[in-house]
Amino acid sequence: MMNIKINATITCTVLLLAFSIGCQGSKDLDVKPVTAEPPAEEVSLQKNLPFKFGAAISAGLMKSRAAYRDVVTKEFNSITTENAMKMSFIHPSADTYNWADADFLVDFATQNGKRLHGHTLNWYKNPPAWVTSFQGDSAAWEALLKTHIQTIVSRYKGRVASWDVVNEAFEDNGTLRNSIWVQKLGEDYIARCFQYAHEADPDALLFYNDYGHEYGPTKRTAILNLVTGLKSRGIPIHGIGMQMHTRVNRPDADLAKAIETAAATGLLVHISELDIAVNPDNDKNMVWTAALASQQALKYKNIVKAYNAIPKAQQFGITTWNVSDADSWIPGQYSRPDWPLPFDANYERKPAYQGILDGVK
Ligand code: G3I
Repeated sequence: MMNIKINATITCTVLLLAFSIGCQGSKDLDVKPVTAEPPAEEVSLQKNLPFKFGAAISAGLMKSRAAYRDVVTKEFNSITTENAMKMSFIHPSADTYNWADADFLVDFATQNGKRLHGHTLNWYKNPPAWVTSFQGDSAAWEALLKTHIQTIVSRYKGRVASWDVVNEAFEDNGTLRNSIWVQKLGEDYIARCFQYAHEADPDALLFYNDYGHEYGPTKRTAILNLVTGLKSRGIPIHGIGMQMHTRVNRPDADLAKAIETAAATGLLVHISELDIAVNPDNDKNMVWTAALASQQALKYKNIVKAYNAIPKAQQFGITTWNVSDADSWIPGQYSRPDWPLPFDANYERKPAYQGILDGVK
């Protein structure tokens, strides 16, 4: 058996040698190297894309589900904390910080060489009860805001590369939400959030994050005016996060317009919470089909393609909002079946995965 193998090897080597000697005489013979596709197990989003590709991650799923952890480790080079750094989780009462999940995710990112994007220092939604019942004058509210931001940013200084500083400050009609923060601190509290974060970690990249840039000009213009206004005042803002919780029937032109107009600000652009719903009309009986899979793959491809066309220096990256269809917020939020992410409930790659890779070809 061994002899047969050795003989075969020698024969192949002799034949290859004879072939290459033969070719040396004919310089004009165009012998192209065969470039085979790399085997599927060597492909990953983090290896095969020219910008960072990440996901919002749940600390609970990282701890409890091996398949989840494996996909996160292999596929992504950026991690956003899905819930662990929200005020209601990390700062549940005035004098208590709950660091466990956030520390776990920051440690995982540090140990595995992944960028950690913190979400979010300020949000109108779900403030903890101690905040809604807080009594104090405007100086006391200012101190509350500043302490919250600076305690968190300081703890992770040098390990959290970037932050969604303020999240979703606008209504869909382009007016500023009448959040508890606006009520207590006035509309310019947004600028101060950025200043406080910057004071605590001058190297961190600071983002304003919102959804709906792709709906049309109304909300988008309000967001763009805010960020360009902050930038022109010298407020430390470095990027714009476009969540892009979108749907399979959203026109490509709207998605491309959202990306192009964000890039026109000159800021970093993060597609920060991407998912593509296939059941936006809430059909309770919908089933997953090959046709839906290929429509979704095409939509992922077109978004990645539009993103890949903006200047490289502004490409902060693309982040999907969680990993697999089993982990998405959408089915629970809307009480419907849906399949919005690039991995299926068994953590297998869907056609959307290939769509993402095709977007940069
Ligand atoms: O962890 C508790 C659990 O202990 C408890 O038993 C259970 C009972 O409801 O709740 C669990 O917390 C839930 C948490 O998700 C973790 O699953 C909260 O109720 C639930 O409100 C929370 O939903 C999150 C939502 O934001 C609100 O914070 C979603 O996971 C998260 O995906 C979603 O993310 C937002 C972004 O931050 C901003 N942009 C939109 C995006 C989607 O809504």
